[in-house]
Amino acid sequence: MKKIGFTVFGVVAALTAMPSMANAEKLTLYCSANEDWCQVMARGFEEATGIDVAMTRKSSGETFAQVKAESSNPKGDIWWGGTGDPHLQAAEEDLTAPYISPMRGKLHQWALDQAASADDKTIGVYSGALGYGYNTKLLADNNLAAPACWKDLLKPEYKGHVQMANPNSSGTAYTTLATIVQLFGEEEGFTFMKGLHKNINQYTKSGSAPIKAAGRGENTIGIVFMHDAVKQAISGFPIKVVAPCEGTGFEIGSMSIIKDGRNPESAKKFYDWALTADVQSRALEVNAFQVPSNKSAKTSPSAPDMSSIKLIDYNFKLYGSSAERKRLLKKWDDDVSTLPQ
Ligand code: G6P
Repeated sequence: MKKIGFTVFGVVAALTAMPSMANAEKLTLYCSANEDWCQVMARGFEEATGIDVAMTRKSSGETFAQVKAESSNPKGDIWWGGTGDPHLQAAEEDLTAPYISPMRGKLHQWALDQAASADDKTIGVYSGALGYGYNTKLLADNNLAAPACWKDLLKPEYKGHVQMANPNSSGTAYTTLATIVQLFGEEEGFTFMKGLHKNINQYTKSGSAPIKAAGRGENTIGIVFMHDAVKQAISGFPIKVVAPCEGTGFEIGSMSIIKDGRNPESAKKFYDWALTADVQSRALEVNAFQVPSNKSAKTSPSAPDMSSIKLIDYNFKLYGSSAERKRLLKKWDDDVSTLPQ
């Protein structure tokens, strides 16, 4: 009798404890978009659901490395934003989990294609074209002609005036490397990267850092996604945005649920929420001018007009594959980054 009494008491105690456990729902968010947008997503989800969010902003390649390093004991629940290639690599390496969101019907085909190429382990949340921006004042002060093409960036007079991120840490910079290889072919593409290396003043960790530095007047030309350059111009800095004349690549910024995360239900809630039009429209609060994946999300007239940019047919499947991403990064490390400047 006594034993049964205790068991019943135990069950009742467990049941009464449940509401407080629900209140303590948590989400660990790894975010690879710009910090201010990551904050909007983290705080916005907390306000909408009452779920506590612990958010860390790291670049796309860095987040991939972290998710991989933690795979035997995952600490993150969801990875939102950042270029699609490392999300695809994570899917291939089975670091992320498949999910079919009820929001799918609201999305552009390119966002669904991203999911299809990864057995539904990732999905597109935004897209944006690669290019560069320059500080018009610094250009004039240094008597430099305005660049218009990728190949202009190789001119000796730009020595020390160009900045890009490191493609190992940054998805923006990996997109640059993969774009150049696709535009010019691998051999000529690496010759281009070696020539560019001579003009680079610094390889930053984060993809948008080079144009932020240009905005502050600390760097002349920054190779970044065009929307990151527009953000600086809109903020009042003397930045001009360039869609390179040869054509350019683009990203499908993505989102993936981390496999065996501690809070899978919160991760799914975030996933569905992040695909809604209202949430995607909030990008405009922080001047994030990517193309949203929800067809009804608001866009700004200041956003780069994708239809007027010469886009290459970026091979996401190939350049997001584990073997190809590793191979290209190693080749860049061995043949480009070690060269004297
Ligand atoms: C910026 C861009 C995003 C892009 C991200 C990648 O935040 O606005 O569109 O996805 O960079 O960051 P990373 O630091 O990996 O280059």
